[in-house]
Amino acid sequence: MKNILLGGVAAIVAALIVAYGMIWAGAISFAADEPHSDDLTRLIGWARERAIAKASADISAPHNLSDPERIRHGAGNYDAMCADCHLTPGAEESEIRKGLYPVPPNLSLVLAGADSEHADARRFWIIKHGIKGSGMAAWSRGGMDDEAIWNLVAFLRQLPQLSKPAYAELVAHSGGHSHSGLGQDEHEPPSRPAALDEPASSEVHHPHTHDHAHERHSH
Ligand code: HEC
Repeated sequence: MKNILLGGVAAIVAALIVAYGMIWAGAISFAADEPHSDDLTRLIGWARERAIAKASADISAPHNLSDPERIRHGAGNYDAMCADCHLTPGAEESEIRKGLYPVPPNLSLVLAGADSEHADARRFWIIKHGIKGSGMAAWSRGGMDDEAIWNLVAFLRQLPQLSKPAYAELVAHSGGHSHSGLGQDEHEPPSRPAALDEPASSEVHHPHTHDHAHERHSH
């Protein structure tokens, strides 16, 4: 009995030494273009879902997530802030999504578990707090309030059912990008620096437009 116990302790110590040695030797890759092993991916995924399930357990979704106003409002924010990473109906791929690790899920598709009872609260928590060590930001840090986050959750429930034209129409009628709940505090369009009013050359570059047209941009 004593020998079995000692053997167990020795095995754990040996495993810790091997893990330490691997990390010290730089054997765990942090390159975003080299996926983790399947085992490590499963371990991280399990830890993530356990942590999110626990942290979001007490959140209850508002009853009016089917309210068209919420959906309309969420559409503008989704298109402005999420679509590059999470795609839109009919969009094949985006440059940033291809290079991120983990790859952001395509939220225009029906994802496993999306119809579970807790799915809305889980999404609310993820959008509010983000996911550490991934490209998913804590949007509350950027100033997005809870109502605006619920509007995004309301929109995400509809997104997989939308055709490309229906998506475009909803975004066009959304009132654009705003960090607060229904109808408050819509952003003014960004003011243009006076220096840009009469550009000295035709090469003035507007780095951030949301029309997804990249005519001037080449690698
Ligand atoms: C820079 C890229 C990026 C942007 C922009 C981004 N996300 Fe994410 N998002 C991610 C990544 C990466 C994950 C997956 C993280 C993981 O699995 O560890 C994720 C996960 C999620 C999930 C969980 C999906 C699931 O069911 O597992 C939701 C919901 C989500 N994001 C919503 C949003 C919303 C809403 C916005 C815009 C306000 C947004 N994201 C903007 C990268 C991004």
